[in-house]
Amino acid sequence: MKPDIRIFKDLEKLSRHAANIFVEQAASAIAERDRFLVALNGGNTPTRLFQVLASDYRDKVNWNKTHIFWGDERCVPPDDPGSSYGQARESLLSHVPIPDSNVHRVDTSFPPSEAAKDYALTLKQFESPPFAFPGFDLVYLGMGEDGHTASLFPGSSVQVTESVIPVTANYQDRPANRVTMTQLVFNQAQTVVFMATGEKKAVTLAEVLSDRYNPELYPAQRIEPKNGELIWLVDEDAASKLPRSLITKFCEG
Ligand code: 6PG
Repeated sequence: MKPDIRIFKDLEKLSRHAANIFVEQAASAIAERDRFLVALNGGNTPTRLFQVLASDYRDKVNWNKTHIFWGDERCVPPDDPGSSYGQARESLLSHVPIPDSNVHRVDTSFPPSEAAKDYALTLKQFESPPFAFPGFDLVYLGMGEDGHTASLFPGSSVQVTESVIPVTANYQDRPANRVTMTQLVFNQAQTVVFMATGEKKAVTLAEVLSDRYNPELYPAQRIEPKNGELIWLVDEDAASKLPRSLITKFCEG
């Protein structure tokens, strides 16, 4: 299915739009299934989304029925600046009335291989048969300048059989020490929202969204929800190399 590509003037407008999607998907999932399952990403881009959800949008979400997961995580303690859970706790979770039991973080006291197995068991508790993991209502993802997404890095195997895998190969000259959900999970989601900003991502984004399919080199291309929708929220700088014909709409907010 063709991705829905929405362009925004800046991160603020993009983040508010992303927050609106959260509110809408939460309301419809809770109305239909009495719970809302969402996977967050780390990195710099979602921080503003988290702040918006924690302030202006705080009362628009039924947090009691919202369950938060992470698409990937670094095996570091929550207080480490690299912890995606720590980041979300600081900018979102500590400001909203979500029960602790609804926050499903990766247990980073384990090394990656055990943390991945443990997190796969967490996902299994929310399974949507025939899959041993949930069909997420909403997944947020980012994209690195090299086309990686979550912790699916260029050159990693496209053929995966597990819902969650350890990532220990060298990334940026260091062992990655991470765990990540795989495309098996992301591609069963109802809605996947990518957020990408900044001119440094423009060339890669144009490549990822082109019809030149190279998922080994550009892991973001591995994300193709089977029955769900794929939405790209992109600021003008990151969109600067996209052909206009690909763009679904220019959004005000
Ligand atoms: C993480 C994610 C990673 C991220 C991209 C984009 O860093 O936690 O694993 O996939 O979404 O690297 O990061 P920025 O938003 O910082 O550009």
